[in-house]
Amino acid sequence: MSVLQEKKVLIIVTAGIAAYKTAHLVRLFIKKGAEVQVIMTPNAHHFITSLTLSTLSKKPVYTDFFEKDNGLWNSHVELALNADYIVVAPATSNTLSKMASAEADNLALATYLSAKSPVFFAPAMDLDMYKNASNQHNISILQKKGDIFIPPASGELASGLEGEGRMAEPEEIVAFMENYIRKSLIFFGKKILITAGPTYEAIDPVRFIGNYSSGKMGFELAKAAEKLGAEVVLISGTTAEQLPKSSSIERIDVVSSAQMYNAVFQHYDYTDVAIMSAAVADYRPKNVSKTKIKKDENTFTIELVKNKDILLTMGERKKNQFLAGFALETDSEEENALKKLEKKNLDIIILNSLKDNSAGFQFDTNKITIFDKEKNQTQFELKSKEKVAEDILNFIHSKTQKH
Ligand code: CTP
Repeated sequence: MSVLQEKKVLIIVTAGIAAYKTAHLVRLFIKKGAEVQVIMTPNAHHFITSLTLSTLSKKPVYTDFFEKDNGLWNSHVELALNADYIVVAPATSNTLSKMASAEADNLALATYLSAKSPVFFAPAMDLDMYKNASNQHNISILQKKGDIFIPPASGELASGLEGEGRMAEPEEIVAFMENYIRKSLIFFGKKILITAGPTYEAIDPVRFIGNYSSGKMGFELAKAAEKLGAEVVLISGTTAEQLPKSSSIERIDVVSSAQMYNAVFQHYDYTDVAIMSAAVADYRPKNVSKTKIKKDENTFTIELVKNKDILLTMGERKKNQFLAGFALETDSEEENALKKLEKKNLDIIILNSLKDNSAGFQFDTNKITIFDKEKNQTQFELKSKEKVAEDILNFIHSKTQKH
């Protein structure tokens, strides 16, 4: 999945010949699943039409503070704050200079100056102009301020001269931004292992012992972890949940607790963070009938044997992994959760109380309390499982900083 998916990208197009390439740039961002807003400087219209860019971005393109037809104000502040990322491409000598000196004589510059989100800029100019000390000085001012410089390429320039100054190709701009954003995500370079859903323990070829776990919480955790930059392995019991097609999460489907155990320990040694949200059956039938059991008797007894506790074993074998378990309780919630935290050698335990309405199995919402090793507890409101997943991962991140 691209880190640009569902992100709002504001492209500021300024007046250089490379502006013609921004049609392709808009298309590439759209293909990555981003929402694109274009602002053009007045002179950029000499190089590409706003009709082209608005058709491709599926949004009006803005240039003026006031719309001539209806007198409506295009708020530079709103445009700036609405963007997750801003990219100035092409960034001409004129615009770079105004960006560096905080001149706001058009909507594009006023928006740039109001930005709180990361700003990338891709200069485009002729080789000597690019080498000019004033331009180099402005580029370094912008970099010092925190803007991100996308270096121009060397090659044939519109003037016919050869050298450095050609705007990076749209593909390079997008790849540069994706790479930069990925590296800034809180779980970049981390491997997160998540278990989800129920386990089914076979009785005979057509029956099993299972539970009502839907797998929703684990799937939301996996999706959120991927969005935060982690490499994710999701080990799931039987579920109707699906991952988006664009996802890069490694999904491993299992049925029984024994299969989940084996899958977990194939990955555990290389895991940084493990979050065990699966509802693993504590027992399984001692003998699994090879043939369908007939209803010959009036009463029927199944002898059960204990399953291995996956999380307990992980706690015992823990090296540097951060371990998060779940506790689903109906009574003495805090006491039971803390006992599990200690017994299983966890870093945190996430408590779902079945006393809370709309929380736990089958629901789209959840209400959790997180306990840490120091017995601190953090309570969260009832939220969608998507938001709960973000809360859990942000909490883990804050803990791993001290870990
Ligand atoms: N867990 C596990 N392997 C098991 C059982 C549980 O990994 N065989 C994990 C769950 O994924 C969850 C936590 O352990 O993160 C739940 O702890 P557990 O003590 O099993 O909870 P309950 O099954 O609710 O235990 P009890 O019935 O004793 O309350």
